Amino acid sequence: MTDRYRLPALYKHNEDGCIVIAHRGASAYYPENTMAAFKGAEELGAEMIELDVLLSSDGVPVVFHDAKLEGHSSGKGLLSGYTLRQLKALDAGAWFDKGFKGIHIPTLEEVLAFAAGTIAVNIELKTEAVTDRGSGGVEEKCLRLVEEYGMDRHVLFSSFDYRAVSHLKALDPAVPVALLYNRSASGKRLPGELVKQYKADACNMSYRQFNTKRRRDLNSNGIPHFIYTVDHPNRMWKLLDAGVTGIFTNKPDLLKAVIDQWRKEQ
Ligand code: G3P
Ligand code: MG
Repeated sequence: MTDRYRLPALYKHNEDGCIVIAHRGASAYYPENTMAAFKGAEELGAEMIELDVLLSSDGVPVVFHDAKLEGHSSGKGLLSGYTLRQLKALDAGAWFDKGFKGIHIPTLEEVLAFAAGTIAVNIELKTEAVTDRGSGGVEEKCLRLVEEYGMDRHVLFSSFDYRAVSHLKALDPAVPVALLYNRSASGKRLPGELVKQYKADACNMSYRQFNTKRRRDLNSNGIPHFIYTVDHPNRMWKLLDAGVTGIFTNKPDLLKAVIDQWRKEQ
């Protein structure tokens, strides 16, 4: 790995060399993208939490995965049609288990207030929130919040929308940004070429797309790479053998245990 690529500084000691990233928090055990899931991830030993950002109708970055509210909240229709106040009136826990009834969709700011000084954050900007606007858009709103909380060297931004990667790097060339490999936007181009074109620091990729050709391309270019979303021990083990930089999982405790075992056998 070379100095060309900037990665977030972790708050936790990571001597095992593979970064454990809790996908939407510890989302196997808690409702995804909620404070409960992020706090749970930290308690289970994750070194980074991943979250998804969309904008409310009044322009506030909120943490939620799907463009539509059905399924993971008590709301209906597009999240982008709701003000923050309306979103805060929704329940974001009962769909998972009624024991979590009464918890709410967090803002990015609330998560940063928890994470600052405690755990690194991968902020995924959802395509639905990205526009052609280089300034004043979701990228700048999130970056300013991150700076306000002193997290600008402890976050990894990412997006499937490559415009967001360019916008972020134009706003702050030093902030770590990963290109989320998007097959339809990439054509036949390999990740090395894309990372160079967009001046990204890393490539995040589905384990399904992480084939021999792309793996070799990433390694030969020294590009840090984070693979999602892996909850199966055998698959985790193979990725550790492949020397990936980090793994996204819904079960950070399981990944920690697999890494411990893997290290013993090296
Ligand atoms: O950033 C990794 C992963 O979260 C990307 O896919 O759909 O789970 O946000 P998705
Ligand atoms: Mg995501």
